[in-house]
Amino acid sequence: MRRYTLPETEIPKKWLNILPLLPEPLDPPLDPETREPVSPDKLLAIFPEPLVEQEVSDKEWVDIPEEVLNVYSLWRPTPLHRAKNLEEYLGTPAKIFYKNESVSPPGSHKPNTAVAQAYYNRISGVKRLTTETGAGQWGSALSFATQFFGLECRVYMVRVSYNQKPYRRVLMETWGAEVVPSPSPNTEAGRRFYEKDSEHPGSLGIAISEAIEEAVTREDTKYSLGSVLNHVLLHQTVIGLEAKRQMEEAGLYPDVVIGAVGGGSNFAGLSLPFIADKLRGERPDLEVIAVEPTACPTLTKGEYRYDFGDTVGLTPLIKMYTLGHEFVPPPIHAGGLRYHGDAPIVCKLYDLGYISAVAYSQRKVFEAALMFARTEGIVPAPESAHAIRKAIDVALECRETGEEKVILFNLSGHGYFDLSAYERYLKGELEDT
Ligand SMILES: Cc1ncc(COP(=O)(O)O)c(C=O)c1O
Repeated sequence: MRRYTLPETEIPKKWLNILPLLPEPLDPPLDPETREPVSPDKLLAIFPEPLVEQEVSDKEWVDIPEEVLNVYSLWRPTPLHRAKNLEEYLGTPAKIFYKNESVSPPGSHKPNTAVAQAYYNRISGVKRLTTETGAGQWGSALSFATQFFGLECRVYMVRVSYNQKPYRRVLMETWGAEVVPSPSPNTEAGRRFYEKDSEHPGSLGIAISEAIEEAVTREDTKYSLGSVLNHVLLHQTVIGLEAKRQMEEAGLYPDVVIGAVGGGSNFAGLSLPFIADKLRGERPDLEVIAVEPTACPTLTKGEYRYDFGDTVGLTPLIKMYTLGHEFVPPPIHAGGLRYHGDAPIVCKLYDLGYISAVAYSQRKVFEAALMFARTEGIVPAPESAHAIRKAIDVALECRETGEEKVILFNLSGHGYFDLSAYERYLKGELEDT
């Protein structure tokens, strides 16, 4: 079989919370002023109560509300594919599977949490959401999700992506959101950069500062984050829970699970349900690999320490691998991977040796993207192509060793709004950062 599909009735009814399964607890977020664990009040200024509760929940399973399942059923369950054409092209004995999150209306895994976050904000009486977006995928997902729950949405879009991807902006506006290039003159955080350089390329860290500042200074507004936080990773576990059922249908269990890492949400969404088996001692040999760009090598080159989640320092201090909150990566085309930190859950698993990480330069990534597009037919998002690159490299190693490894990676999104990057690669103009 090439495609493993599940009926709508098989959408998972619960998310998997990895927190109670971790071998040691996460280090708590700290208040930057006191360096004491941050009080819930401060988080409640930014997020609604149900999401703050999920952030620290110790329940292994969390019910998915009916209203969220209704929206999920517009595209979930997503298919699991066996990449047989790619296997044949590579001449590998490995079996390559991928979970296809590109089939959601916004084109990525991001609505899995956007829909849940819009719902919890709505039932908490919130009227408006602010957020940031890098590649435009997260902003599109939140614009899409807020529609279903009658919320207004303002998206601070990293300027380099705003300029590179005008159609992502139009998509967000089509779903009713307002899109502002960041850094902007709207906020104090934005003005710090904007006033020095009105064409500043921006970064996710700066855009987060702008969106949070607006949320804490307006009564009717809260902030929504598309990655990094525990509750975001929780919502994304629908990916891995479905994939596990689908791998069962294929009669296989992966030897290697791979995902691209920006803040860590699609990687964790696919891998955590499998990592849970490893943590329980059931799959000690499972290999889980995070892939990042060499231009923003958070896990492979960062330091494990407390740092701010944004550039200006409005968030609590978070224990994570970080390149420093003032790090502004070069404007690579995988805009969604330009974040200076990573999810604390992913960092803890990396620090304890449960997962490994690798970094690739952009041309290596686009070479893999083209191989995938020309064999499997889907044009991958540049972010997802990082995972494809590693899957291909593992499959090529198997060609040498003769091992028949089962490889599973996350196709976190499609690249139909990233064709200008493809054009640069095809013309030989893409920088190899
Ligand atoms: C398609 C796609 N994949 C991956 C990512 C990286 O984010 P995360 O690590 O949270 O999955 C993004 C972020 O925008 C994205 O758009």
